Amino acid sequence: MSLVLIMVGLPARGKTYTARRIARHLDWLGHRSKVFNVGNYRRQQSGADVPHHFFSPNNEAGLKARHQAANSALGDMLTWLKQGGEVAVFDATNSTLARRNWLLEQLQKHRIDTAFIESICEDESIIDANITQSKLTSPDYVHASKEEALTDFKARIAHYLSSYEPLTDGPTPWIKIIDAGRKVILHRISGPILIKVAHLVTQLNLMPTTIWLTRHGQSIYNTQNRVGGDSNLSPNGRFYANSLSDFMQDVDVEEVWTSTLTRTIQTASRLGRPIQRWKILDEIQAGLCDGLTYEEISQQYPMVFEGRSTDKLRYRYPQGESYEDVIRRVEPIILALEHRSTPVLVVAHQAILRVIYGYFMNKSKEEVPRLSIPLHTVIRLNPSTYGCSELRFSLPPHLEMTP
Ligand code: F6P
Repeated sequence: MSLVLIMVGLPARGKTYTARRIARHLDWLGHRSKVFNVGNYRRQQSGADVPHHFFSPNNEAGLKARHQAANSALGDMLTWLKQGGEVAVFDATNSTLARRNWLLEQLQKHRIDTAFIESICEDESIIDANITQSKLTSPDYVHASKEEALTDFKARIAHYLSSYEPLTDGPTPWIKIIDAGRKVILHRISGPILIKVAHLVTQLNLMPTTIWLTRHGQSIYNTQNRVGGDSNLSPNGRFYANSLSDFMQDVDVEEVWTSTLTRTIQTASRLGRPIQRWKILDEIQAGLCDGLTYEEISQQYPMVFEGRSTDKLRYRYPQGESYEDVIRRVEPIILALEHRSTPVLVVAHQAILRVIYGYFMNKSKEEVPRLSIPLHTVIRLNPSTYGCSELRFSLPPHLEMTP
């Protein structure tokens, strides 16, 4: 069954960010999802450098060009849905009833379910932050000074405002997001995907914070190449707990999250920050293989070894988990990280951090089980509207060891 989520809202209300977060999240959970951004089609067809009166509701040529861009995006979206896409997000202002009715009519012809997602923002500080962060650096303004871009963009918003028609009650389900998720109103929302979307938009954060990630220090089991278990840190691992504590001294992090396993708790014990322990951050469950070395697994359970080599993402350890299971398990942590406005350090495990890192760095699920998350390395992630940047710090192994 296909579903189209139609974004609605004035420019600079965080629609594109919201659309991308929704698509990323649903895709991550296994629903093929994609954003169709009408602005990109308009830039290709009419150029990026169009002045604000292009967007005036009284500009016939502008209206025609904008309709053409929307029609092209719609065409590509329908093709993608026919080819097996599940959830498409139609990202444009869609701010008039006429535009929305036209879209509904086209989608109903193909028996596609629809819902609207309207982003309303009355808080000037959120609008200004959004304009400065994402609009002034957009391809539309590469040739303009900051002041020219700001004046032009505000004039563009005024054009849309003059003909804006907010959503009203009717047969089509909708979600209204007010002031970047401070308040959310639902109308006729039902079914697992729309309920998930509704939950997701309550956790949005237009100004995401820095996320710090590290594996626990080397454990006794790591030294023996054994999986799972609940062993203590090795002497090297204790070095790392010290180095980490020194490294984090001047880093702005208010809270540390660990799993409930001894090795992460010991690693975080010297950080001097409030610690929250999460069971859902525990390492992938190796089931029957827990406590074995990789070599023992290949000898005693060759099917497991074979299964993981051919499909590491989906292969589930007997009585244990697959990476796909971990992706689903860790989802509340990802939502909580997206929602946070103050930096946090997550001290966890290889498989768990592959999942968290992979989500924020926009990796495909197929890549996740083989992402490189080495021991004794701190990773800093800086998510933003259009992506996420990373920095890695390998901590020196020779700091003074304290018992
Ligand atoms: O080897 C350390 C470890 O954290 C194990 O406990 C866990 O089973 C493993 O990494 C996960 O990595 P992979 O899925 O590559 O075996």
